[in-house]
Amino acid sequence: MDWGMKNRLGRIFNHKSNRTVMLAVDHGYFQGPTTGLKKPKETVVPLLPHCDSLFITRGMLRNCIPSNTNAPVFLRVSGGPSILGELSNEDITTSMKEALKLNAAGVGMSIFVGAKNEDRTISNLGRIVNEAEEYGVPVLAITAVGKEMGRDARYLGLACRIAAEMGAHIVKTYYCEEDFEKIVEGCPVPIVIAGGKKIPELEALKMSHDAISKGAVGVDMGRNIFQSENPVAMIQAVRAVVHENYTADEAFEMFNKLNRPK
Ligand code: 5RP
Repeated sequence: MDWGMKNRLGRIFNHKSNRTVMLAVDHGYFQGPTTGLKKPKETVVPLLPHCDSLFITRGMLRNCIPSNTNAPVFLRVSGGPSILGELSNEDITTSMKEALKLNAAGVGMSIFVGAKNEDRTISNLGRIVNEAEEYGVPVLAITAVGKEMGRDARYLGLACRIAAEMGAHIVKTYYCEEDFEKIVEGCPVPIVIAGGKKIPELEALKMSHDAISKGAVGVDMGRNIFQSENPVAMIQAVRAVVHENYTADEAFEMFNKLNRPK
């Protein structure tokens, strides 16, 4: 691996735990002003000191994130359809030149395995990897689940493996209780989990804990952090699970302590 690629990956993985807490705040790229991100600056800025990287679009980055932040940036480079359209109809929206200009530590895009435009999104991933490798930039592939796609280990395992075969350096997928470890086994690059829809804090911490114990290297979590009643407390609790091997109950206790009114 080239020095630039190693350095960028080294910036997002914690040197002690070798794991990562990525904060996903890219939802507006197809969902518009999502709950919790209606005023992105107010929500995201207090979370910056607690994340290992920020997963975001260029528009939100330029307009809402102070340029002196220390948080490495993973730039979402795919998009196209809105929540009202055909979700798999994504293309590349942001160039590698733009990613470098924004000092991105990595780029990320979705693939839609099994959906109408799966072939285009998968070949776009191959193209992005070609370009990104020229500049030593890691690529995160997201196995997006549209309305009609399943979330079982068979489906997710297929999607993760395809992402890795295309050359993705990290794969972001969803957690499934049954056979998650088989997804990890079949995917030769590190896997981080998305949080999915908002669930109670304890459940989200349990999901993070279970994913880590079955081989995930971290989370790229959005709604279960920024839609929490206390996002700053929640991200710290998630960190404790990912980096310090807290159980879900221990991390929930930490969340409750941080959440207590002073
Ligand atoms: C869609 C995405 C999201 O925009 C986001 O990053 C998901 O994060 P979470 O599920 O934790 O809210 O990747 O495919």
